[in-house]
Amino acid sequence: KADTNHEAVVIGTGYGAAVAALRLGQRGIRTTMLEMGQLWDEPGPDGKIFCPMLNPDRRAMWFKDRTEAPLETLLGLPIVNRPIERYAGVLDKVHFAEMAVYLGRGVGGGSLVNGGMAVTPKREYFEEVLPDVDADEMYGKFFPLANKTLRVNTIRPAFLESTSWYQYARTARRQAANAGFGTQVIPNVYDFAHMEGEARGTKPKSALAGEVIYGNNHGKMSLDKTYLADALATGNVTIKTLHHVKRIQQHQDGYLLTVEQRDPFGKLLNTKKISCRHLFLGAGSLGTTELLLRARDNGDLPNLSDEIGRGWGPNGNVMTARTMIGGFQQSGMPVLAIDAWQDHEVFAEIAPVPAGVETLASLYLAITKNPERGTFHYDRGTDGITLDWRREQMKPSIRAVRGVFDEMNRTNLSTYRPDLFGIGKVFSDDFTYHPLGGCLLGRATDEYGRVRGHKNLYVTDGSLIGGSIGANPFVSITALAERNLSRITATDLNH
Ligand code: FDA
Repeated sequence: KADTNHEAVVIGTGYGAAVAALRLGQRGIRTTMLEMGQLWDEPGPDGKIFCPMLNPDRRAMWFKDRTEAPLETLLGLPIVNRPIERYAGVLDKVHFAEMAVYLGRGVGGGSLVNGGMAVTPKREYFEEVLPDVDADEMYGKFFPLANKTLRVNTIRPAFLESTSWYQYARTARRQAANAGFGTQVIPNVYDFAHMEGEARGTKPKSALAGEVIYGNNHGKMSLDKTYLADALATGNVTIKTLHHVKRIQQHQDGYLLTVEQRDPFGKLLNTKKISCRHLFLGAGSLGTTELLLRARDNGDLPNLSDEIGRGWGPNGNVMTARTMIGGFQQSGMPVLAIDAWQDHEVFAEIAPVPAGVETLASLYLAITKNPERGTFHYDRGTDGITLDWRREQMKPSIRAVRGVFDEMNRTNLSTYRPDLFGIGKVFSDDFTYHPLGGCLLGRATDEYGRVRGHKNLYVTDGSLIGGSIGANPFVSITALAERNLSRITATDLNH
């Protein structure tokens, strides 16, 4: 029997989903969030919620036999990753034929595992990517609102310039300047007052213990501490964890969901039917696109358009590393980026290598402007999705990254590191942290994320943005969701 009590259901608890839940809750609309991952608030036997970076355990990854950290080798040796028990851990790596995607799993989605870099994109590029969105309104209202609600803050200049924990960033900045490239201080959602306490020894260490991709035990203002806490405080929002939505069907003037509830070891506990009037998809670029493709191709939501699945891109992500003395103390939270967008179409975050030893490596996650796009397809055989994306589509990104880092190496007498991404490989172009697209705004949906062909169905996450945003994406995803929800709550849900 269907659980029919739901006015609105939000699938997922990442950025777009959290905005939807807060704004619906504030309007007095009873809202249920369904999240396939866990709520991360209970310490394990070691007293910590998340496992250590350098000694990961089952909490690290989403049902894997081995950790899959992006740096595979150190000095060419496969010593970074290790066997773990299969469990509902916090970081997932989804493998397609020629591209892999890292994702956060749990209440807070990507906010649990990401580097916290809170970048408002360059207005000119935002207008190029989303020409039909009113940029005045975004930059005057919704970007400031997103930054404020996410509790974005900026490192104190005196701390940045003096602490040994950011020597790696200062050295990379100087070397960038030698090569003629400018850098920027990047705001973050990590609480820098807490970090300074970590450095003084008065606060428990998290960023300064190298924590990031397997979760931060302290200091990070992930969504569970901001948007989702505010949403729960309205009294109208509930979150159901370890609830994986598998199927969406039309049901009267709303939707019927088939949801699998599992335990953290993967055992199926229950298959539920949940119906709702308004359905918000915030399952991320991969999750939302998969649900809609399955619904379209199985005939559950037959009016969905051919646009579903199209326009996907990895935000031009390329990881690379150079030789450099960075120091053995490295904060896990990046705070500087090389901004070579104007001349080279590269915006490269200066990333830490928080190994606790001198690795002689300077690491970068470069975001590049890459016009190539991929397409998702539903595969009836596996009941999953495939991604039509070929490795060679990363060529424009590699060319752009070479334009910056060949010059960095030439002027600073450094070389690329061939021992971090597998032996001999100097550019890692086969994974992304920034999946974007699959249900594009204005194509698969209308200009506010209303899915074309079916009423009361909305997309609210990174799948709305067509493959590239020129900066780390979560502030853009949040601000766009704010804009769309402000319209939808005023018009579609006004009662
Ligand atoms: P998001 O992926 O956050 O959330 C989707 C949620 O839905 C997840 O919790 C998932 O478990 C759940 N879900 C999926 N399918 C479901 C289903 N069928 N049923 C129920 N639940 C389902 N960005 C940035 O701006 N600055 C940064 O520093 C970084 N750094 C970074 C590092 C790493 C390691 C990663 C993996 C990512 C980043 N990012 C980043 C990217 C950023 O985290 C990402 O763009 C956003 O989290 C995407 O937000 P969404 O709302 O689209 O979905």
